[in-house]
Amino acid sequence: MKQVGPKILFIDKEQSTLELLRQLLRDEEWDCQFVTSASEAMALLENQPIDLIVSDAQTSEMNGFQLLAKVYKQYPSVVRLVISGYSQQDNIIKTLAEGYPQQIIPKPWVDQEFKEIIRSALRQSSLQKKQSPEFQALINSTSLLPALPESYSNIRSCIVGDEVNIEKMADFISQDIAISGALLHWANSALFGQRFLVDTIKKAIIVLGTDIVENLILSEAVIQAIAQTLPNIEGFDFNKLKTHSMATAVLSRLLIKSIFPTDSNQQDRAFVAGLLHDLGKLATASFFPAQFEKAITLANTRKCPLQEAEIEVYGTQHAELGGFLAEWWAFPPFIVNAILWHHQPQTTPMDKDVIAAAHVANLLSYQFNYGSNGETYPRRIADGYREKFYLTEEENEFLRSETEKTVGALTS
Ligand SMILES: [Fe+2]
Ligand SMILES: [Fe+2]
Repeated sequence: MKQVGPKILFIDKEQSTLELLRQLLRDEEWDCQFVTSASEAMALLENQPIDLIVSDAQTSEMNGFQLLAKVYKQYPSVVRLVISGYSQQDNIIKTLAEGYPQQIIPKPWVDQEFKEIIRSALRQSSLQKKQSPEFQALINSTSLLPALPESYSNIRSCIVGDEVNIEKMADFISQDIAISGALLHWANSALFGQRFLVDTIKKAIIVLGTDIVENLILSEAVIQAIAQTLPNIEGFDFNKLKTHSMATAVLSRLLIKSIFPTDSNQQDRAFVAGLLHDLGKLATASFFPAQFEKAITLANTRKCPLQEAEIEVYGTQHAELGGFLAEWWAFPPFIVNAILWHHQPQTTPMDKDVIAAAHVANLLSYQFNYGSNGETYPRRIADGYREKFYLTEEENEFLRSETEKTVGALTS
């Protein structure tokens, strides 16, 4: 049986435009339907599952924005796009903020761009399907998920299989001040045991190794993609989250080093897992600021774990949102799992040691007072993990001072 592709519904009052679309998309494996009115669209939605709806801003009966608002209310898991010309600009900004169309396709469109937007929306739709209906509705109440900035793909393009073009990579990195600064700081930090001053990007790449470099860049790219203009949220401080992430990265690496002293691959993974574990907090702060603020306030007044408050307020929590986003960006599976399972490391299907390290590092980071954004509820490290990572009083003190050396120096 021929596999049925994703279902897309197009609405435009002009038959001729629909015909153009039909021609444009005829080679794609998509099951496309074309209708000329909002009522036909609503009737179709009632009778069959639709993944993606693409409406012109001007349809007959009601305008495209009203139609998409209606679709959002009745079918919250359907992804919604609008095709709109320049003259409707004012309308667009207002309705985009309301989240009814999740993205605008400009008119006249460029064929290749048009297809790319559809492809990206369909990928979001299929990824969402694995989630609960509440989660789908939450994700679908905001604009489409963003792509990572170009700087990241440029730097990634320097790695082909096991071969790395360090010269070219250093060139790309040098163009980005934030990334260059971060690399030089880490390369000169106590954590990577450097005795000589690392003063060029090329030396930094060699000291840190390309895996770490790639992932540090990834973490900067994520910040650029979602956190450049964070709204003000009571009880949440972006800089504190950064400090907390750095401390967790340092601790996570030190912890795993105590059980795998010579395995630099595991150490690098633990570092990255720690650095990115709270990606979901950044995403929640950026996409759902009002709900996040509510959850933080609730956790503080009730003195319960943040994730408990989050589930009560919006039916999911930052670890799940972060894991979802990491999958959207096609991060390596160990990072996806670290983000998803950092509160319950025993549940992860793989990379158990790395994720256990990130989990314990997260708790230690709070104990050592590195950025407690909405996480004021004290949590104990389970005895099993204390034994696993040899966490004696002495070891605790050693970890505290090593973290201070690196993170103190990095944030000062
Ligand atoms: Fe967390
Ligand atoms: Fe955390």
